[in-house]
This record gives sequence, structure tokens and C-alpha cells, in this order.
Amino acid sequence: MSTPTAAPGTGPDWGAGPYADALRTGRGPLFLRRADGWLLPLEVERWCAGADTADLSALRRCEGPVLDIGCGPGRLLAALAERGHRALGIDVSAAAVARSTAAGGTALRRSVFDSLPDEGRWGTALLLDGNIGIGGDPRALLARTAELLAPRGLLIVETSPADVDERVRVQVAGGHNGHPAHTAEPFPWARVGTRALLRHAAPELWIPAGQWTVPGAAQLPGAAQLPGAERCFVALRRSRATVLRSRG
Ligand SMILES: C[S@@+](CC[C@H](N)C(=O)[O-])C[C@H]1O[C@@H](n2cnc3c(N)ncnc32)[C@H](O)[C@@H]1O
Repeated sequence: MSTPTAAPGTGPDWGAGPYADALRTGRGPLFLRRADGWLLPLEVERWCAGADTADLSALRRCEGPVLDIGCGPGRLLAALAERGHRALGIDVSAAAVARSTAAGGTALRRSVFDSLPDEGRWGTALLLDGNIGIGGDPRALLARTAELLAPRGLLIVETSPADVDERVRVQVAGGHNGHPAHTAEPFPWARVGTRALLRHAAPELWIPAGQWTVPGAAQLPGAAQLPGAERCFVALRRSRATVLRSRG
């Protein structure tokens, strides 16, 4: 499973342009940029480093085989492998998959909405680093993730420290203030705080199984994380109820 495999329908290609460049060098600055100029900093340096205390607070809770959705350069996969977990990363970016594999992880170039190995059998799914934003429709992503997990499987989501629930269209942008390089096509993204996530988690699919916060890491070059900002996590347990297919 460690060979990067392009699949149809991989979605917006984060792998081209500034994201691939940032993963190759391990450095930002990198942003999600909205048409009106609003910038959401992406913490490339942290993603390309080893798992930190906040990451480990999530990994400690993992049960059974772990699916890391939007695995990026693979720090979580490497840490899971060190701890003896069977783990698979999926990402639409070829650069992310290549870096994950080089870091000792197992990763596939797939969208979470594509057909995936072991659907309905994963013990834990991870949506960290804002990945609940993938696809721009948190309810659809939660429904898709429920299909991937085994009954009673665990989903760990990192939520926004802000009390937000927003859907946006963005481009990946690099360089000073998000200029000049950016991906060609805007794509949908979402930002979801803890309260919104719990609202989106349909009770017929999910049982809340915990929430916690961890003080943010020291500010990194190129990242606009405020000193003292927290990272916030929510665990949801898949109910035993039959999961409806989210795809045709
Ligand atoms: C906010 S970054 C998170 C990075 C990552 N968690 C890490 O550890 O570096 C979002 C990641 O999700 C990936 N992604 C975007 N859309 C995706 C999709 N539909 N399916 C799988 N991965 C996707 C991007 O390529 C990117 O690597």
C-alpha cells in the first residue's frame, strides 16, 4: 500500500504549486486565501516536524488500525508507526504522499471521498490540523468518515479554537502575504469550532466521546499562531447503527 497511487476524483490538487514547494522545503509561509484577501496561515513547519504534545494527546487515544485523513507530510503516521499502530494516510497531494512514505509511513494518493481500503473496518480516523474543512461541508465529511469506521470506531477531530462555523472558497497561496504563487482554482473549505462540530455530528451516527485542549506550540516562523493559542480536539464514537452510503 505504500506506492503513491493517483485515483480519479482526487479533488483540488494541493500537490501542485506552493503546497508542494512548501512540503519539499519544510517551510512556509503558506496560506489558504479567500477571494476577499482573508488569509488563514497554514503551519507547514509544524506539519513537517515531529509529532508534538498536542498531536500525542490525540494519538494516545487511537484504537486499532488508524486512518489519517489528509495526512500531509506524515508526522502522525511516523509517530503511529513508532508506537506499533497499523496506520494508513490518504492525501490528494502527491508531494504529501511522497513525504509521508519517506518518513516511514504508509500513504495513498486518494481523496477521502474515493474508494478506500478497509472501508467500515478502521478503528480510528483522524481529522487533525483543520482537516474537518476538507470538502467544505463538515456534515458530508462526517457522514463519509462514519462509513470508513468500524461500528464503535473512534473519530478524533481537531476543531478551531474560535467559535466558528463557516464555509469558504479558498486557494492555497504562498509567499509574502499570500502572493504571488497560488493554486489555480478556488475550492471549498470549512472552519469549525467545537460547538459547531457537535451540532454537525448527527446523533444517529455519532456519540460524543470527549473533548480536550492542549496549549499551542511556540510560534513558528511563518505561522501566525498566537502565543498561548490552544489546540482543541473532539472525540466522536461511531454508533452501531447502519451507516447510509454517502456516495452513489
Ligand atoms: C490543512 S492540511 C493538513 C496537513 C496534515 N494533517 C499534516 O499533518 O501535515 C490539509 C491536507 O489535506 C489534504 N486534502 C485536501 N483535500 C483532501 C481530500 N479530499 N482527501 C484527502 N486529503 C485531502 C491536503 O492535500 C493537505 O495535505
